[in-house]
Amino acid sequence: MKIFSSITQLRHYLDFYRRKGDTIGLVPTMGALHEGHGRLVNEAVKSCNLTVCSIFVNPTQFNNPDDLANYPKQIEADKKLLAAKGCDAVFLPTVDEMYPDEKLGLAINFGQLEQVLEGEFRPGHFSGVGVVVSKLLNIVQPDIAYFGQKDLQQLAIINRLVKDLSIQTKIVAVSTVRESSGLAMSSRNLRLSKEEKVIASELYQAMLELKKSILMGVATARAIFETKEKLNELEGLRLEYLEIVNAHTMDAITDLSASENVSICTAAYVGKVRIIDNLYIKQED
Ligand code: PAJ
Repeated sequence: MKIFSSITQLRHYLDFYRRKGDTIGLVPTMGALHEGHGRLVNEAVKSCNLTVCSIFVNPTQFNNPDDLANYPKQIEADKKLLAAKGCDAVFLPTVDEMYPDEKLGLAINFGQLEQVLEGEFRPGHFSGVGVVVSKLLNIVQPDIAYFGQKDLQQLAIINRLVKDLSIQTKIVAVSTVRESSGLAMSSRNLRLSKEEKVIASELYQAMLELKKSILMGVATARAIFETKEKLNELEGLRLEYLEIVNAHTMDAITDLSASENVSICTAAYVGKVRIIDNLYIKQED
């Protein structure tokens, strides 16, 4: 497995394979890899001739300096996981390599899509994601890039970015990988204690129950209200939002027939760690 920190050298390496006609897959990550990321890499290795994984803790998408400072780093373990999965190249740039002139501060406005849910609680976050993903797609120019449904709003943002900027890369969504407790795997889970992990898994159980009530015909507003009440009673968990939305536009939905793609989206603090999750209520094939 090759390791690159220079954009020029990575491009040079990729040019050789591109000229040969190989298909290139990209898995963008921020490292501290787990089996959720692993699933994305598996999909890339299965469908592409060459798989590139980027590991870059992108400062421009962190609106909370503590979260950036405490973001877990385990680069040697990451390399091992990627090599075992059959990843061909890892892109590990420094902040200077990605942002040579930090003061330039390019921003992307995703309109309504970034006003809600994560956007409301993390101002500027999606602009940072949009800029870094644009850069990674420009650097690697992959045929396919893989993103997790775990970050559903991010996926919607990236689909929008690729469409509006006429980027040729195909975006493939990969379903969420969970622990046996139901807790969605996340790099930030490394910062949860054993007890906090149990509390965090309640969020998924609450979404399962909410989905069940809604499919049984309970009105969405009432079902959400009841779920929020239950979650608010949990000691150690502080709910930020719990909503039922159109999974493409992220607009809140009260009538399930309004869209073919409806999802529950939620975010909560467990101790000092902010976790997000979602669950489809209905999804197009
Ligand atoms: P990161 O949180 O490292 O996630 C990298 C990719 O792995 C994202 O597409 C995310 O949705 C996916 N992923 C994370 N946990 C997952 C799980 N349990 N199951 C399936 N997929 C999962 O998301 C980012 O990094 C960054 O915002 C990035 C896109 C790299 C831009 O900086």
